[in-house]
Amino acid sequence: MTAPVLPVLSVRDLHTSVAGRGGTTEILRGVSFDVRSGETLAVVGESGSGKSFTALTIAGLLPQGATLTEGEVLLEGADVVHLGENRRRALRGAQIGMVYQDPMTALNPVMRVGHQVSEGLRAHGWSKAKSAERTLEVLAEVGLPSPRNLARLYPHQLSGGMRQRVLIACALAPRPKVLIADEPTTALDVTIQQQILEVVTALRDDYGLAVVWITHDLGVVARIADSVAVMYAGRVVEQAATGLLFAAPQHPYTDGLLRSIPTPAQRHQAALPQIGGNPVSLSTLPVGCPFEPRCPQRMERCAAEEPPLTERGSSLAACWVPPDRWVDAHPDLRVVTGA
Ligand SMILES: Nc1ncnc2c1ncn2[C@@H]1O[C@H](COP(=O)(O)OP(=O)(O)OP(=O)(O)O)[C@@H](O)[C@H]1O
Ligand SMILES: [Mg+2]
Repeated sequence: MTAPVLPVLSVRDLHTSVAGRGGTTEILRGVSFDVRSGETLAVVGESGSGKSFTALTIAGLLPQGATLTEGEVLLEGADVVHLGENRRRALRGAQIGMVYQDPMTALNPVMRVGHQVSEGLRAHGWSKAKSAERTLEVLAEVGLPSPRNLARLYPHQLSGGMRQRVLIACALAPRPKVLIADEPTTALDVTIQQQILEVVTALRDDYGLAVVWITHDLGVVARIADSVAVMYAGRVVEQAATGLLFAAPQHPYTDGLLRSIPTPAQRHQAALPQIGGNPVSLSTLPVGCPFEPRCPQRMERCAAEEPPLTERGSSLAACWVPPDRWVDAHPDLRVVTGA
């Protein structure tokens, strides 16, 4: 038997709050997961469940007013949260590459593409010569043609798919151990999306990268992820190997998502299916399980006490009701289409 491999990225019980006019709201309420070298973890969950906040917390890039109040981010076993600000920035920037959801933080429109990649490297202390060399190398690695010519272009001279490759090149240039991508392909057409997924998967295998891929698209999850973390109301409510999650979901919310996968005719929408009932508000959470008001499997205990994330077979799930006690009918669950 081989010894278990230490996860490259280990996220332990993250609690992140934001201060607002109405007081403090806890956005992440204990997020935990591990990602190993050469693995992709997909993070799914409806809008507002805390996926981007999880990414920003890990990268140490929370917006103003938001604070990590509890928890640890371990890179190869070393805590990167409780370091001085400067070391933290240096370490995370070089070891955690990030592709953002927010297009405003994407490419600088007035800076040549090659310059954007090499600037990032210079900021991490690379010499001028080494950054120039690495820039051309990484542009080629993400599958961009004629890197030397391409490096001289401005972002508006590139297609959407090429721009996305440049962003991935920026993130991967310092040879990080972890890549976090927050819905990087949503705006692209299906063929280009597929190409980006293939490039990242190939680089993951070559570099032994640990990838965290945030997405609304369960088709993408099935294609690229080794395991999946399903988020609901600021927590992971289920984590499992991808095949297992699709075959035998252990949380009624996951079950609802899978039952609501669009028919082939609706598939072009490529959005995470929505299930019935209202999304939960983080500022007015019920005492029990936050999914209880929408859950077709709910029982008395669910409204009284929030279930912890615990082992259930080879999966982890935060639910009091095991699948063998679930009722068959799902009257509350329906696909909300055309949104
Ligand atoms: N700057 C902010 N200040 C206060 N609250 C915020 C801020 N940004 C997001 N939130 C709140 O934090 C919660 C989680 O947001 P987050 O962006 O992580 O969701 P998400 O899962 O990434 O959603 P989406 O799928 O829409 O990208 C939401 O309830 C959101 O309203
Ligand atoms: Mg988001």
